[in-house]
Amino acid sequence: MTKAFQFKTGFQLGVATAAAQIEGGKVDSNWFHFSEIPGAILDGSHVQRANQHWELYEEDIALLDELGIRHYRMSLDWARIEPEEGVFDETVLEQYRTEIQKMCDLGINVFLTFHHFSHPQWFEEKGAFLHYENVDAFLRYVEKSLHYIADLVSDYCTVNEPNVYAVNTYLFGEWMRYKKSLRKTLQMMDVFIALHILTYELIHKFRKERGYTNTRVSFAHHVRHFTPATAWPHDRWGARLLSYLFQEGLFRAAATGEFSFPFKNLANVEKGQYIDIIALNYYSRGATRCFQDTTLGDVPKNDLGWEIYPEGLIEEARRCYALLALPIVVSENGCCDNEDLFRPRYIYDHLRLITESELPFEAYYHWCFLDNFEWAVGELARFGLVHCDYKTQKRTLKKSAYFYAQMIRDHGVTASSYDTYVEPCRYHRDEVNILRDYVND
Ligand code: BGC
Repeated sequence: MTKAFQFKTGFQLGVATAAAQIEGGKVDSNWFHFSEIPGAILDGSHVQRANQHWELYEEDIALLDELGIRHYRMSLDWARIEPEEGVFDETVLEQYRTEIQKMCDLGINVFLTFHHFSHPQWFEEKGAFLHYENVDAFLRYVEKSLHYIADLVSDYCTVNEPNVYAVNTYLFGEWMRYKKSLRKTLQMMDVFIALHILTYELIHKFRKERGYTNTRVSFAHHVRHFTPATAWPHDRWGARLLSYLFQEGLFRAAATGEFSFPFKNLANVEKGQYIDIIALNYYSRGATRCFQDTTLGDVPKNDLGWEIYPEGLIEEARRCYALLALPIVVSENGCCDNEDLFRPRYIYDHLRLITESELPFEAYYHWCFLDNFEWAVGELARFGLVHCDYKTQKRTLKKSAYFYAQMIRDHGVTASSYDTYVEPCRYHRDEVNILRDYVND
């Protein structure tokens, strides 16, 4: 097998971020309030610090440019935009416009997300996405924001990983510390499905009325590859069921308006097509034991103990493509590798399969552009191509950032860049797990 390969014509490499994970600041959001609870964030860090990107965005854009990155997925922080219900902060919207405009001027295309796990605290207190009546508030915020940015952006993501948000809040009771409830988990998924479809329609209508014909809207769908841990029937059924409840049923409903049990059509939408691209966030594979999601033993893992299994991305993409034959964008893929020891290999292994696949992959956004606030794990987990020293806010390019920039220049991987960046990388198995090490400290 040759080590070098070329991307297909038109295939693009980008990077992704999310507002609350990088911006920092005293923002009255669900994550700000959650960070205030002692012990809520594993390493005791606070969303308020993050990367101070709100102040340093020009420096970060300059870094994107330096790396040759021309595709950037980012999100708006609703909590910043509408700090009080019905009161919009126009200066914030102006700054988002300036930030996006600066990228456009450099030829950087923005793929814009409206909800990436963070929202105003007042919305959280109304029950957030548990109640269908709350969707109107979200639509109002999206419409308001479109007035500022719709002429600059054509590709939109309504909501990031509705399944992950619902599961982490209500199934595991980890985020926001809610009492665990399967019923509420599914209820939240139903609200997200309705919210996605209504937002999809709103964005299209808004831009169409202004004469734009190139609008593309999707939601970022988190796919996990569920495999039975053994050949026992209960593990096989478990894997099917988890896959269906976590991703397939939701994807079908949100993408096509076809609902199957237990998903409910709250907005009474008709069958149709409610995504223009398939946007997938993929990280890992789960081994199902009965109905428990676990991880296999002796397999390559990242620093959080997540299995590295690139084939799962292709298999899950194929499943989504079978439902709707649309262009596929990997809207997130990446790994926690605190020492940057194997990230280039991780990227290489995924991109190689993407390139060899018969599926129409159009773009790949690496998660993440820079180390950031990793939700309930805090600053402990590093996913970035760029290192951040949180105390000084100094950004430093990692080896994997140089590799990424080189791939962009070469539109693929040359034998020499394979030898320089990928060859020295080794995955570890169970030797490193920063969560375990942390808890043991
Ligand atoms: C989320 C990101 C997160 C990443 C790594 C994805 O599920 O969209 O916000 O940082 O996974 O955990």
